[in-house]
Amino acid sequence: MINNIIFDFDSVILCAEGVELILQQALLRLDEKTRLQCTSKLNQITYLADIGETPMAEAMQERFALAPVYREDVEAGATRILAALSPKVRETFAALRTAGKRLFVFSTGSDEWVRPVTRALQVEDDHVFTNQLLYDDQGRVTGFDEKNPLFLSVGKGYIVEQLKNEGRLPGGTAVVGNGASDLAIRTNGCAQMFVYFSTQRTHEEIRRQADFSVDVLDQMLPLFFSEDELSHEHMQAIYAQNEFGKSAGQPQVLLLESVHEMAAKKLQHEGWNVRQGKGAWCSDKLISDAGEVQVLGIRSQTRLSGKTIAALPQLWAIGAFCIGTNQIDLQAAADAGIPVFNAPYSNTRSVAELVVGEIIMLLRRIPEKNRAAHAGQWLKSAAGCAEIRGKTVGIIGYGHIGSQVSVLLENLGMSVLFHDIVDKLPLGNARRAGGLEELLNSADVVTLHVPDTPETRNLMDASRIQKMRKGAVLINSSRGKVVDLAALRAALDEGALSGAALDVFPEEPAQPQDVFVTPLQGAANVILTPHIGGSTQEAQVNIANYVSDKLLRFVRTGATAGAVNFPEVDLPRVPHTHRILHVHRNVPGVLAKINSVFARRNINVAGQMLQTKEHIGYLIVDVDQQVSNQVLDLMQHITETIKVRKIA
Ligand code: NAI
Repeated sequence: MINNIIFDFDSVILCAEGVELILQQALLRLDEKTRLQCTSKLNQITYLADIGETPMAEAMQERFALAPVYREDVEAGATRILAALSPKVRETFAALRTAGKRLFVFSTGSDEWVRPVTRALQVEDDHVFTNQLLYDDQGRVTGFDEKNPLFLSVGKGYIVEQLKNEGRLPGGTAVVGNGASDLAIRTNGCAQMFVYFSTQRTHEEIRRQADFSVDVLDQMLPLFFSEDELSHEHMQAIYAQNEFGKSAGQPQVLLLESVHEMAAKKLQHEGWNVRQGKGAWCSDKLISDAGEVQVLGIRSQTRLSGKTIAALPQLWAIGAFCIGTNQIDLQAAADAGIPVFNAPYSNTRSVAELVVGEIIMLLRRIPEKNRAAHAGQWLKSAAGCAEIRGKTVGIIGYGHIGSQVSVLLENLGMSVLFHDIVDKLPLGNARRAGGLEELLNSADVVTLHVPDTPETRNLMDASRIQKMRKGAVLINSSRGKVVDLAALRAALDEGALSGAALDVFPEEPAQPQDVFVTPLQGAANVILTPHIGGSTQEAQVNIANYVSDKLLRFVRTGATAGAVNFPEVDLPRVPHTHRILHVHRNVPGVLAKINSVFARRNINVAGQMLQTKEHIGYLIVDVDQQVSNQVLDLMQHITETIKVRKIA
């Protein structure tokens, strides 16, 4: 229980450095150039003092050496400071005071501008610790009282210890500020909690060591109060303005690029509110029109850059209703606590079927007979035409597609040889080739099903194409850069190969209206298709089902199995428990902070599972009682927190 709260005056109450405001008053007398130089120097002095690099006394001397400061500057500055006191500060202090918290204010600034403010906030005078300015006979400031403990880097800690010894800090103590001296009170054990208050000047090193970090004053209320205290009417009025702690209702969904209607049906069936769009949206449209969307579904044309993702902080998950995820900045999504789900193998069968069809077409020389028939020629010859039965197919890359092709072709009577860099279990009667060369030497048909990697770029170059059997055919429906197309064209023209089918190319048109050019155009017995290996209605339905199932499971249970950018966690739900999902920066000590929130609120943890991936940690926690939004707020303000969500 927190009974005493110590505020740093400048960073929390003023959101500025008081002494700087006084000095700015004095700098008004200088010419513009000198004033600008002095202001920049002033900022630098304050920064170095804040992070503990320059001792406080030295920083004060440096500041007052910049320009002469007189009593009237101090008085005018103090009046401005009091007038600028924000209503939010007044409200928060009133709420804390009414609830019986003991409030203390520490400042390295002087009585002249600190006390009018603390009196306005009704903080007792003997709870306010300041320094005193010294003046000469002409009213010019000559310095500060250097014996004042606040001038020492450990000065605040020293005062807290004294207060403790005098029995003036009964119970738990929290410090709110953003300086090294505030943090030191906590690390020296004189306080139980350090709350980092973000201002324009961020001290990341200090923030990282804080128990909690907040950037709006009333966000810190749940840190200091019990649930009962927070439910009082007065607190509720203040707390209602707080944006955090939203629990999981039914999400708003936006599906773009005509994602198959099966997806919308599934998600609507769950009660989700689904909006659909035909084309891809640009970043500006997403930022302006998708602000309420928690689940975003796209295909390959909608680019989600880091900037767009950062501008959509309410997003819970992204569904890529396609195979690839290059269009999404996956790291930015992970950093924002957003898992991305895609459908990697939903079109495997479609590609495999196309390959089977192409082999039959090529071995019967259908492309040229078809072209001739359209042109009024009757090419009825059987020359160069063959059945596929009894022939040997060589499959390079025996993964999802390669192994399906293997099964289908064996059923059509082909012998299957395969080559893979990984030790793969042969299906049916398929045989692993002794190496790539053996496969090329033995196969009547070579079909490629490898990924795009540095090793597979130009895998089928001129020398490998030459190693293929005379009159063999080559099929590539994997990735465009795997085959050297100029070498393939030469082999076809020379008659070394009898045909080829290509569905993928090194350069593919970005838009349907762009012109497509390849060296294979016009070659005999060659099938060219526009990257449609996986483009079937069945594949679209599979993709829609697969990705929407992943999204449903994630929203219902937090499961991230199959996410491409996220730690994978899948914890079965236990009846009568309530679930919280917590995404955080993966640094030591976060779990302890999260569990201390539960301990502080007497919440029993029934189960939890944590996984990390690079610098992201993802925790699912089941607790045996319903948790309030205040508990979520506490978790939201843990310094390392990226996202928190509650599941009913
Ligand atoms: P997969 O990952 O299941 O299988 C790829 C296989 O290739 C793995 O077994 C792997 O060990 C093997 N491999 C990797 N490097 C190799 C190398 N240097 N030599 C021999 N084997 C190697 O992938 P999947 O789903 O079977 O897809 C295969 C290819 O098909 C991918 O490039 C994919 O992008 C492409 N694809 C094309 C489509 C189209 O519309 N044309 C549609 C779907 C996939």
